[in-house]
Amino acid sequence: MGNRPPLAMRGGMLNPVPDKRFSARLAEYQARVEAALDRCLPAATEKPESLNEAVRYSVFGGGKRVRPVLVYAGGEAFNAEPAALDGCACAVEMIHTYSLIHDDLPAMDDDDLRRGRPTCHKAYNDATAILAGDALQALAFQVLVEDPGITVPAAQRLKMVDTLALAAGPGGMTGGQAIDLEAEDKKLGLDELQTMHSRKTGALIRASVELGALCSGTVDEQQFQSVSRYADCIGLAFQIHDDVLDIESDTETLGKPQGSDLERNKSTYPNLLGMEGAKQAARDMLEQALEHLSDFDEKADMLRQIALFIVNRNS
Ligand code: IPE
Ligand code: IPE
Ligand code: MG
Ligand code: MG
Ligand code: MG
Repeated sequence: MGNRPPLAMRGGMLNPVPDKRFSARLAEYQARVEAALDRCLPAATEKPESLNEAVRYSVFGGGKRVRPVLVYAGGEAFNAEPAALDGCACAVEMIHTYSLIHDDLPAMDDDDLRRGRPTCHKAYNDATAILAGDALQALAFQVLVEDPGITVPAAQRLKMVDTLALAAGPGGMTGGQAIDLEAEDKKLGLDELQTMHSRKTGALIRASVELGALCSGTVDEQQFQSVSRYADCIGLAFQIHDDVLDIESDTETLGKPQGSDLERNKSTYPNLLGMEGAKQAARDMLEQALEHLSDFDEKADMLRQIALFIVNRNS
């Protein structure tokens, strides 16, 4: 960081605390994806009811909807219409919710609280929670393939399916989760920790921004690379801040058990770098993220504001 002026003073564009207009736009997009999810998930009365109820219980039990909002914000930066983005917004939230349901299972982090309510396997049972996750993963890809709001040519849609598959699979979220479990009771080096975080959390965050851009049709390759790198940085910052909150926040604010990482002796940024080191790493990632957007005009402001939100949030 050296002698560089603080973010708020550079370009005069950014306030380090997300502003009121941002909060309103965040709420707007959150409501938008929730309505879209309601339209595309099976009704709770549809058979098998227990499975469809469990899916809806997990999807609609709160959640910040950061990934769908990143789809909308990524789309904004490339002039895509919100209606063209709803399918991708739903798909990333479905993959994310599935990952949370499985992450909380006794075989993984064994947590009882999620989004302020009992975890899916506590409210239902382990088998239903496993199946609810499986169902959400399949539904995510179904939405990407079938959603009539997505207007791009079939080849581009195929690229979008590939983008989500790569982010969710062994090279992305699933692989990162495997590394996370293997790293319990071990001390990873910084490179290994960064790889784990970038995969388990960063991959889906990057895919969210990329999907938003891809929904706009023809995308300038250099601009696409810039938002991808921006997303890599905020993805890593997101998980570093999640590790920080696990120590500094409280269960009620988080809506999930505070201290879960400590209890399971997880490899985390505060564990390796200390609390100040972890916070500095998140700030460095924020700064790098914003630099990757330097060639974009105000159409990328939502992306800028989300980056600030990610490292300032308290839950
Ligand atoms: C929690 O994600 C899991 C991580 C990848 C750190 P979020 O903090 O986005 O959880 P919700 O969706 O708001 O509940
Ligand atoms: C989970 O990381 C990442 C995924 C679910 C892919 P964490 O285990 O840290 O998430 P929380 O803290 O339980 O939400
Ligand atoms: Mg975990
Ligand atoms: Mg967990
Ligand atoms: Mg965590």
